[in-house]
Amino acid sequence: MSTPRQLKFGAMVHGVGHGWGEWRHPDAQADASTHFGWYQGQARLAEDAKFDFVFIADSLHIHEKSSPHYLNRFEPLTLLSALAATTSKIGLVATVTVSYTEPFQVARQISSLDHISGGRAGWNIVTSWLSATAENFSKAEHPPHAVRYRIAREHVSTVKGLWDSWEDDAFTRNKHTGEFFDRGKLHSLNHQGEFFQVKGPLNIARSRQGQPVLFQAGTSEDGRNFAAEYSDAIFVHAESFEESKAYYADLKRRAEGFARKADDLSILPGIRPIVGRNPEEVEHRYQQAVALVSIEDAIVALGRPFNDHDFTRYPLDEPFPDLGDLGSNSQKGGSDRIKRQAREHNLTLRQVALDFSRPRREFVGTPEQVADQIQHWFENGAADGFIINSLLPDGLRCFTEWVIPVLQNRDLHRRHYTGSTLREHFGLAFPANRYTAARDEAQATQAQKAQVPA
Ligand SMILES: Cc1cc2nc3c(=O)[nH]c(=O)nc-3n(C[C@H](O)[C@H](O)[C@H](O)COP(=O)(O)O)c2cc1C
Repeated sequence: MSTPRQLKFGAMVHGVGHGWGEWRHPDAQADASTHFGWYQGQARLAEDAKFDFVFIADSLHIHEKSSPHYLNRFEPLTLLSALAATTSKIGLVATVTVSYTEPFQVARQISSLDHISGGRAGWNIVTSWLSATAENFSKAEHPPHAVRYRIAREHVSTVKGLWDSWEDDAFTRNKHTGEFFDRGKLHSLNHQGEFFQVKGPLNIARSRQGQPVLFQAGTSEDGRNFAAEYSDAIFVHAESFEESKAYYADLKRRAEGFARKADDLSILPGIRPIVGRNPEEVEHRYQQAVALVSIEDAIVALGRPFNDHDFTRYPLDEPFPDLGDLGSNSQKGGSDRIKRQAREHNLTLRQVALDFSRPRREFVGTPEQVADQIQHWFENGAADGFIINSLLPDGLRCFTEWVIPVLQNRDLHRRHYTGSTLREHFGLAFPANRYTAARDEAQATQAQKAQVPA
């Protein structure tokens, strides 16, 4: 009997929050972004609720107007290595950029997390959208958007190649004969490409899940194609059910174009649920979240998808300014959408900014109401699961303690972990080592030939 399709959940654990004002909530832990105990507590909540993974986002450039969480936070792989030791089942997903790293280093670091955690590592592949990042990495300029995705393709293919350096049974460690490894099962990649030259082999073996799970969040044309070709799971900014449904269908169709099965990639909209036990509590909590967004902060926040553009220079109550191409070299997909919506609905700058930062009304309600919406998206082609991004200090607790049991009662979410690797949580097959697979195939062809009478 096949198991029913179930939701996948990730918790975006984001210190003092996404916005500029969340740290000021009376119950917020104002130093959460650099407080390991706080991350441990959030990971425990997510693991108790049988989430698939926790996710640590990242970027590599700040200035004095960056959001409070950006200003002072942990490096994701270091943080997740520590969380690996205090959790046992939950997946651990880190953002690492391809534009400012070397494939060898990334392959080694993520593989180390994968070993330390017993096969629970995931990589959220980003191309970095803040151009000033170049100034922190001895680079004269930030690569243009299209080039960043060319870099991404080559970088990720190289990392995947390095991860297969050792076949799964390469380390014989035979004390009797003195053979530490089988020389026929160690492979050099010898990659010579446009951006990277990497000989290999990598100095770490494959982990229990074969290779770490790949995540991405492409929105633009290039981003979508990249995600459809390489990712096991895709984050998407969820604007509405219709938009998410269209994105879902588009990405699954593109994946099939890359000879992948639609089921092999999960679409995970990012949502910010606000849950209360009755309508009054829901409204109170929603208004609390709204009050944390001032227009001054919303104007700064709006700059983010436009390479931290300064919007304070425009009049607030006039039509949204004509920005031309601005944003297309930053978060192309997100900035294009903001410009399109402003134009279509004739919005002022104030309206656009508040709309961008204020909590939406979707996924706001009692536990049953929020569960109903999640079920609706899941069963009607808009999501395979969700990445939960809490707005209020106890947001993850309310979601895991109130909404998750409703979903479990409806058989939409697991009550127990059945696997122990992130790949198993996602129902993904163990990826064969490319050299083992090629040898097995060659042997099978030879055996077939031997059977055919001359
Ligand atoms: C849930 C979610 C999480 C993301 N996390 C990061 C992150 O940690 N670091 C980052 O640079 N970008 C992050 N992004 C942005 C994407 O990597 C990407 O830049 C954006 O979706 C624009 O897509 P495009 O490159 O196709 O224009 C995230 C996006 C989403 C929806």
